[in-house]
Amino acid sequence: MGPKRVVILTGAGISQESGLHTFRDTGGVWSQVRLEDVATPEAFVRDPARVQAFYNARRAQLLSVMPNAAHTALARLDAEFDGELLVVTQNVDDLHERAGSRRLLHMHGELGRARCTDCAATREWNSAIEPDTPCPSCRQPRLRPDVVWFGEMPLHMEAIERALMACDLFVSIGTSGTVYPAAGFVQMASGHARTVELNLEPSDGWTQFDDSLAGPATKLVPAFVDELLAR
Ligand code: APR
Ligand code: ZN
Repeated sequence: MGPKRVVILTGAGISQESGLHTFRDTGGVWSQVRLEDVATPEAFVRDPARVQAFYNARRAQLLSVMPNAAHTALARLDAEFDGELLVVTQNVDDLHERAGSRRLLHMHGELGRARCTDCAATREWNSAIEPDTPCPSCRQPRLRPDVVWFGEMPLHMEAIERALMACDLFVSIGTSGTVYPAAGFVQMASGHARTVELNLEPSDGWTQFDDSLAGPATKLVPAFVDELLAR
């Protein structure tokens, strides 16, 4: 009798083999630019053009990358698993959706959406946001990337915590386990759920997991999904 209520957390590592940089590996995003300069509300007040340029470049890159075998395997799980499933991603890319995942929450928002700081309207946005780009709803030039910056509240936390407290299997894929609240999810699931980490190398929190498997996501995730669907 296999697990019936599964929560899967993903991080930048699941998109690495699609060609998107992770944040803290060698050559990662935060070794190219300081997060204090481009990923905080203060940075946006201080230098909005620099923040928009940082996200415009990352948004443009999304148009040239594809989901990889790990995203596709999670989409297959979404289609075939008859229990409760929730994928919680820290990623702001749209590779899970494009692979076909439906039962999915973005806790750090989405690069492919813009939000107006005046009228709060959000909408799909796949091109550049310039400082003078008018909001389609209120016409004010007050658009920002609809992502969660450091110091801002992650999204969907109530639904995520409810799922973590009820799950019988928690899987963490491609995340360094350094940024909260996501880094604390394994603790919330421990005790009532089996906890498994699939990561290129053991993360900072690997000792908190029942099992920690090391390897690339495109190898580990399809095998893990096959095993889960066979139970
Ligand atoms: N397959 C599996 N895991 C991988 C792969 C791969 N091909 N490549 C890298 N990894 C692992 C790394 O070993 C590392 O543990 O993915 C993890 C990436 O860690 P980070 O770069 O810290 O990314 P993440 O954990 O998603 O960062 C969390 O921090 O900067 C903020 O908001 C940002 O959502 C992000 C959050
Ligand atoms: Zn507006």
